[in-house]
Amino acid sequence: MIQIDNVSKTFGGIQAVRGVSLEVAEGSITGLIGPNGAGKSTLFNMVAGLFPPSEGRVLLDGRDITGLPPHKLFHLGLVRTFQIPHEFSRMTVRENLMVVPPGQSGENLFNAWLRWGRVKQEDSAVLDKVDDVLDFLEITHVADELAGNLSGGQKKLLDLGRTMMTDARMVLLDEPGAGVNRTLLGKIREAIQRLNRERGYTFCVIEHDMDLISALCDPVHVMANGELIASGAMTELRRNEQVREAYLGGGMSGQMGENARPSNQGDAS
Ligand SMILES: Nc1ncnc2c1ncn2[C@@H]1O[C@H](COP(=O)(O)OP(=O)(O)OP(=O)(O)O)[C@@H](O)[C@H]1O
Ligand SMILES: [Mg+2]
Repeated sequence: MIQIDNVSKTFGGIQAVRGVSLEVAEGSITGLIGPNGAGKSTLFNMVAGLFPPSEGRVLLDGRDITGLPPHKLFHLGLVRTFQIPHEFSRMTVRENLMVVPPGQSGENLFNAWLRWGRVKQEDSAVLDKVDDVLDFLEITHVADELAGNLSGGQKKLLDLGRTMMTDARMVLLDEPGAGVNRTLLGKIREAIQRLNRERGYTFCVIEHDMDLISALCDPVHVMANGELIASGAMTELRRNEQVREAYLGGGMSGQMGENARPSNQGDAS
């Protein structure tokens, strides 16, 4: 579905991504892992059109989408979520979902916000969809809460909900588990799996929580120092010497072990 073809990115003197090629197959939940600063988010940003690659191409269903801006990609069914959730904190959860009606709000969030007054009056189809999303993610009880008051995990669920309001087929998730407590992490994992199985979403997931990656993703790609160093099932990667070394260098070797505990466990949510 997505083909990343020999993509590189240089920021000033820093080569953040170096000649990375990988595929995200349709129907998969593909993982992307690697130590801090490996270039994962930069790779996502290029696929999602935040900035073009310095070199290389990105294809979606065989079509060259290199350098297309996010709103064009949105209309092709490709969306991303951010490492730090981008909710409208002064709007309720329900309102946050309502400003992302299908096929409408790809342009940018500011336009979506300007349109808010109009969207509010709009057809009941949007309202029905909002109810479906709230129900699917089991967040109906916080529907009228200001988004800014949500816990970290609830914000991540809201983020997922906003992608569900679009007609996305391909979703890039940047650290859906960061700062999320155990209970909500289970819900997020379940929501991703059900969206994949029941609703045909393809996912590419960046995550530091190896338990979450193991439970969700196959295959998993590993980046270190801007390069792709390994790809495969998580069980193989845990035994891969190069992968273990990459994490050792970053002082995170524990994460790759059999009894590894994710770094964000126990964070407030
Ligand atoms: N906009 C930017 N300008 C300059 N340098 C950047 C920019 N974005 C990222 N970098 C640099 O590129 C490298 C890769 O960063 P990136 O954010 O892609 O890593 P990451 O794998 O997502 O790390 P983390 O797991 O900590 O989120 C880092 O050295 C970072 O400092
Ligand atoms: Mg990142």
